[in-house]
Amino acid sequence: MKRLTDKVILVAGAGGIGTGLATRYAAEGAKVVLGDINLESAQSVVESIKASGGEAIAVELDGASEQSIAATVATCVETYGGINGLHLNFAFLGDCNPALGILELPLEVYDETQRINARGFYLCTRAVLPVMMDSGGGSVVYTSSAAANASTPAQVAYAMSKAAGQALMRHVATRYGGVGIRANTIAPALTLHPGIEAFVPPEMMEMAKSAAAIKSRVGNPTDIAAMAALLMSDEGSYITGQVLAIDGGTTMRS
Ligand SMILES: NC(=O)c1ccc[n+]([C@@H]2O[C@H](COP(=O)([O-])OP(=O)(O)OC[C@H]3O[C@@H](n4cnc5c(N)ncnc54)[C@H](O)[C@@H]3O)[C@@H](O)[C@H]2O)c1
Repeated sequence: MKRLTDKVILVAGAGGIGTGLATRYAAEGAKVVLGDINLESAQSVVESIKASGGEAIAVELDGASEQSIAATVATCVETYGGINGLHLNFAFLGDCNPALGILELPLEVYDETQRINARGFYLCTRAVLPVMMDSGGGSVVYTSSAAANASTPAQVAYAMSKAAGQALMRHVATRYGGVGIRANTIAPALTLHPGIEAFVPPEMMEMAKSAAAIKSRVGNPTDIAAMAALLMSDEGSYITGQVLAIDGGTTMRS
């Protein structure tokens, strides 16, 4: 399907899920700008997209730096004439030790988690919205986490940062819905990709499966990208302000 032809989509954060997102957006016809603090990783994804006949460029982006974000937005406008879609997907994952709770987590890890995950999403949104409005409206998708909506004995800073992103999403959806901007959040649970496969112990895989309603497998970036492509497309034009859990039924909300 080519539901994203002529749309310019900025994906901020390559890595495992970002690779799936950029690849799917390009396969659906979008012109993709893939930004990451690790330029080489974004470049290798872009090469593979181009080899499959897609349109994409890679940029070095620090999503927590106003200067770097401004340069990326300028590149989108200079190269493709505007921005119709923004997917904020990067994350600082320093708060991942299951042994650390609020009493043990170093404050520097807390601060860095909020600086990149919460403040970074805020800064990127603030920089892109005016361009998106000039481009006739568009869709903003935030990658959150099941951790924002589940019990969290660990990863308190990470869960707080991901909950902050959901509040930001609701603000954007509410305030800018009238000018053609939609905003939604995708909340994955454990999503396997080559970058983390080696570090996920078998017991964590089993825990993830047992916490989900779907027991046969855990999620992968293709699952996330399928929902993201719908949200970016005109088929999703009546979906806004939502947190879509792509987690095999790990969390359930009415
Ligand atoms: N994989 C999972 O199990 C899982 C589960 C729930 C939520 N998530 C969320 O999905 C998103 C992607 O996760 P992933 O598993 O693909 O992680 P990943 O580590 O493979 O990718 C994250 C990317 O973000 C980039 N990045 C980090 N800081 C940055 C910055 N300041 N500016 C720009 N880029 C920066 C990294 O270089 C990396 O390429 C994250 O937001 C994560 O919190 C992942």
